[in-house]
Amino acid sequence: MPATTASPRSESPAGRAPAAEPAAGPGAGGAEAAEERARAAAREGVTHPAGAPDFAALLSQDPEIAGVLLGESARQSDGLQLIAAENFTSPAVLAALGSPLGNKYAEGYPGARHHGGCEIVDLAERIAVERAKALFGAEHANVQAHSGSSAVLAAYAALLRPGDTVLALSLPHGGHLTHGSPANFSGRWFDFAGYGVDEETGLLDYDVIRELARARRPKAIVCGSISYPRHIDYAAFRDIADETGAYLIADVAHPLGLIAGGAAPSPVPYAHVVCGTTHKVLRGPRGGLILCGAKLAERIDRAVFPFTQGGAQMNAIAAKAVAFAEAATPAFAGYARQVVANARALAGALAEQGLAITTGGTDTHLITADTTPLDLDARTARGRLAAAGIVLDTCALPCADRTATRRTGLRLGTAAVTTQGMGEAEMRRVAELIVGALREDGEVRSGTVALVHAFPPYPDHG
Ligand SMILES: Cc1ncc(COP(=O)(O)O)c(C=O)c1O
Repeated sequence: MPATTASPRSESPAGRAPAAEPAAGPGAGGAEAAEERARAAAREGVTHPAGAPDFAALLSQDPEIAGVLLGESARQSDGLQLIAAENFTSPAVLAALGSPLGNKYAEGYPGARHHGGCEIVDLAERIAVERAKALFGAEHANVQAHSGSSAVLAAYAALLRPGDTVLALSLPHGGHLTHGSPANFSGRWFDFAGYGVDEETGLLDYDVIRELARARRPKAIVCGSISYPRHIDYAAFRDIADETGAYLIADVAHPLGLIAGGAAPSPVPYAHVVCGTTHKVLRGPRGGLILCGAKLAERIDRAVFPFTQGGAQMNAIAAKAVAFAEAATPAFAGYARQVVANARALAGALAEQGLAITTGGTDTHLITADTTPLDLDARTARGRLAAAGIVLDTCALPCADRTATRRTGLRLGTAAVTTQGMGEAEMRRVAELIVGALREDGEVRSGTVALVHAFPPYPDHG
């Protein structure tokens, strides 16, 4: 196995050795003590502990930024949020995110921090790690990655050396910036070879990928995409990786929540390292997650801290813990299934209305559509949709006419609208609104508002 490029933990940027601390220091207690504190607060009717978000304070102190919050809150609930990478986190996740844990510096890992006073936040990280391991059936979880990109950077840092060859889905076919874009560290520091999808079907062709791996003998193969709407065959990828002596890195930033809810296959049994984001279908705070086997655990942890990151964001880690607990419930499994059912219904209805759906449908939350049949380019389409309160992305299309000068790909997803409680019947209405907006039907804006106001993202908000 190749050696890690990560520095040992003792070479922290601060140049200090981490202090070994007990599992929970004075006054902290363990998980039971934390739960007892919470029960006592509930008995006493505490709803606003010291340091909890106080909107009234923001409103009086900084009306400019308070107005930004109000505007964004209204924008999110007055439009159809179809960006495939977005969701509405629960009030419980937001409470952890906007908590005094954000004040705490905590370089290092639980029990071995470079700062004092970490005994309580250590508990948050231990809980988050245990919940992530249980949720995904992984031997090891690192919950510190600040984002999906940071998680991928750490995976590369743990497994590769600069100049190593890596195979990944090419960017025009749906690879992420971290999969070898020349504008990103990945393309500058590694020798990426891009595989594609079949130009006719839009599907991954594992025989072609195997041939490329045989020819290039990569150190790692990355599977995962920003726009591939179908399940990935992780066993096939692992077989190719084993045959060619490569590590397999699964970047499941998009489907991580579907995997948690049992609505998509898990890469955990197959990939050496799994990277993900907690803020997409998983419905947690903005952040990253890395899963791996016990053998790579220490290399991954060192690759996150101290190699690529400093202090962990303990408020985000607590919020990830809350999201992992939510994702372990039967209700979340039902949500994940509904996300896929909604995406299938929406893809079918859009196809009936004349849009060309890549791969003919979807297995996931994600749909990519070609606007060519409507004689529109994607940028114009996105503008018309925005005017009607419908928010989505443009994207590259793998099967697009290479001679065309205009992009014609739209990417949309059903994670957020499903959180709002919409089902397949509403997806048919969403398709009508989309196509109406693309045809510049002036009535669509009011139709969008009527639909979304029937499904507020935060219905209990008084
Ligand atoms: C496949 C994939 N990898 C990595 C990322 C990066 O995540 P982040 O924006 O949190 O850095 C994304 C984000 O969309 C993604 O889709």
